[in-house]
Amino acid sequence: MNPIDFDAIPRERLPALLRAAPKAELHIHIEGSLEPELIFKLARRNGVAPAYPSVEALRAAYAFTDLQSFLDIYYAGASVLLTEADFFDMAWAYLERAAADNVVHAEIFFDPQTHTARGVDIGTVIRGLHHACQRGHAELGVSATLILCFLRHLSEDDAMATLEAALPYRHQFIGVGLDSSERGHPPEQFTRVFERAGTLGLHRVAHAGEEGPPAYIEGALDRLQVERIDHGVRCLESPALVRRLADARVPLTVCPLSNVKLCVFPTMAQHNLPALLEAGLCVTLNSDDPAYFGGYLNQNLTAAFEALPQLDARHAYAVLRNSLEASFATAAAKAGWVAGLDRAFARAAGGA
Ligand code: ADE
Ligand code: ZN
Repeated sequence: MNPIDFDAIPRERLPALLRAAPKAELHIHIEGSLEPELIFKLARRNGVAPAYPSVEALRAAYAFTDLQSFLDIYYAGASVLLTEADFFDMAWAYLERAAADNVVHAEIFFDPQTHTARGVDIGTVIRGLHHACQRGHAELGVSATLILCFLRHLSEDDAMATLEAALPYRHQFIGVGLDSSERGHPPEQFTRVFERAGTLGLHRVAHAGEEGPPAYIEGALDRLQVERIDHGVRCLESPALVRRLADARVPLTVCPLSNVKLCVFPTMAQHNLPALLEAGLCVTLNSDDPAYFGGYLNQNLTAAFEALPQLDARHAYAVLRNSLEASFATAAAKAGWVAGLDRAFARAAGGA
């Protein structure tokens, strides 16, 4: 195929092109896709009292000042999930939205400890989510896999027990991650459990550098042996770390709407995405917790590109291509998706 003439694609055409192009989502917490309407439906179905009197009152509470202020509401929302059908319904609703956004592949985080702490069996969680992933592939054409995340505000022993409890379902998830309250919970506290995950052949990722310092990104790389960094936006505070991440092409799964909603950046126009891309980093864009942060993947892409005039068609292509290549899918699947991406951009450049 001829090289794509990016200069022939004007900025005005980018929102439509970003929406239509094939893409992967690598940073989505499935519990963060739980819309208020579904929270209330599941609360009724399960006889659980919702923490807010109405959908409107719940939505009105989504005014966050930092990560912790969000997590408190996010964990309360997840408390309506009890049965395998609940987990299926939540993941299915996400996959339908992902398909509508032309997501061809999703690597979906889930937080088992949020549920097992309430007495829900880990098998109930994984079976419901996995069933939705299988059906998503068969009926929606979205390739979907699961990544089990450990809550870093809990102990490493708890994480280890969670991993062991998940082992009967080892082939229903592809990796492990680390999420929840970042400040005061450095990655190295989870060295042993990530080592164990490595011996089991699981992929490893971790949230780092969302609110935490660059040293947490280094800790995730050096001690947890992660293959991707979730968020990572604070890496720019360390030029040596930026060089390391760029040279090793360590993907950063950046979440623009999340970063603004959680006050990591005051506005989208002040997001450091242009600087991350200029530094040669392998950036992907993602939705994090779309039900709480004002949009799914396409809304993250268009909000960022509309607010940041430095970004052009080359950047649009780069973030989408990075998403496909930074995924844990097979080389053959990636090549097929990248060919589709190339066709979409070539058509746009040709004026079609
Ligand atoms: N869990 C859900 N969303 C998260 C985020 N943005 N950071 C850390 N943990 C999370
Ligand atoms: Zn996240």
